[in-house]
Amino acid sequence: RWKGRRRRVAHFGLDAVHFVASGNNPKTFWALHQHGDAFWNRLQRTLDNHFNPILRPNNTKRGFENGTFNESLLAQGFSEVINLDSTRRNFDQLPQQIQEFISHMQRRDYPALLQPDGVCGAGTKETKENFLNRLAIRRTWGEGGGYVRRVFLLGKESTEDRGVNALLQMESKQYGDILQWDFKDTFFNLTLKDVLFWSWFKRSCSRTRFVFKGDDDVFVNTPKMISYLRDQLKKPQAHKTLRDFMVGDVIAAAVPIRFNESKYFMPDSFYKGFYPMYAGGGGVVYSGLLAKRLHDMSKRLNLFPIDDVYVGMCMVRLNAQPVHHPAFLTFDFPNKEEEELCSYHTILLVHKRSPDEVVKLWVHVKKTQAQCWDVPLREANK
Ligand SMILES: *[C@@H]1O[C@H](CO)[C@@H](O)[C@H](O)[C@H]1NC(C)=O
Ligand SMILES: *[C@@H]1O[C@H](CO)[C@@H](O)[C@H](O)[C@H]1NC(C)=O
Ligand SMILES: *[C@@H]1O[C@H](CO)[C@@H](O)[C@H](O)[C@H]1NC(C)=O
Ligand SMILES: *[C@@H]1O[C@H](CO)[C@@H](O)[C@H](O)[C@H]1NC(C)=O
Repeated sequence: RWKGRRRRVAHFGLDAVHFVASGNNPKTFWALHQHGDAFWNRLQRTLDNHFNPILRPNNTKRGFENGTFNESLLAQGFSEVINLDSTRRNFDQLPQQIQEFISHMQRRDYPALLQPDGVCGAGTKETKENFLNRLAIRRTWGEGGGYVRRVFLLGKESTEDRGVNALLQMESKQYGDILQWDFKDTFFNLTLKDVLFWSWFKRSCSRTRFVFKGDDDVFVNTPKMISYLRDQLKKPQAHKTLRDFMVGDVIAAAVPIRFNESKYFMPDSFYKGFYPMYAGGGGVVYSGLLAKRLHDMSKRLNLFPIDDVYVGMCMVRLNAQPVHHPAFLTFDFPNKEEEELCSYHTILLVHKRSPDEVVKLWVHVKKTQAQCWDVPLREANK
């Protein structure tokens, strides 16, 4: 599954710290977030205290079966924190997009404007730049078929252009793979795509084993991906490990960017502390089972403006860890490795490729399939 919008040019520049496990021990994480007077920390503290498995082992299960229970806790925490004098005093000093985020962070029930017509997205059924991305994906690695369903996740463009909307409706009618909601498609609203996708997924995709979610400017080696996922199913104890299964380009011990000209700028009056270990949102795979657990957990977590960090925050609270796999090349091939004949058979995903490149790569991968099939996936420190 992939979202229909490119974003993210860098992952906080912290790729060198892969595998550093600090900050992801649940006990440490709970402890870290007990303090701090930043807005988001304060908001979340009420909920975390309520559900902290160490402090209140009896509460962990509570509320999953009763959505209104979590909603009322969220709303209560929000009105307490937003009415504090210190919050009021600081609000105007926050960057515009954080203010915008806070003003809308309570709302999650955006209606869908366009929805896929098939069960769980489009299968075999068969200008704007993102349209070209989607077209390339449909014709290549996202081609539906026996094992694959496809859905593009969209918000609304900020300019209400009738022509663009009409085209999108036609596109949705023709391909049946558009899931669009009634919120502004901005960087800080990306988290809504995760939580609303999980809701839709839970309703529509009861039998789906794995979810791939990524940007629309990546190339995925789908045959290799399917074979990799099949191997996961064959492992001993697969049923157990799939509960927590998430794999991608894992970033550990990242810290919020405090430089106010960055797209990722996070003022410390809004959030204090480390980010949890998380898989970069450019392309990540997780089990269908985990998607449903993430959906439940997200009801107890205030929205956070950076979507992949938010998913990491849900993971920590599920006591689950994403697994790093070097075949997710969110920073492209090192040096000249790309030029080797079978290079694209050693990867599961590479960022970032234009629609034209995606089409050429797909042809190349198909053409070299037989001779390169046995080439193993990239390993760490190759
Ligand atoms: C948790 O539940 C158990 C069994 O219902 C009970 O014995 C125990 O006292 C409870 N603990 C707390 C902290 O409420
Ligand atoms: C769900 O939670 C609400 C609010 O806390 C409560 O009023 C209601 O009785 C609960 N419903 C069930 C079925 O537990
Ligand atoms: C998110 O979408 C809502 C609804 O369209 C919009 O009002 C809000 O400004 C958006 N938030 C951000 C941070 O862009
Ligand atoms: C960024 O911070 C500098 C100094 O800390 C300040 O002068 C500038 O106005 C800030 N820029 C924005 C866009 O907030």
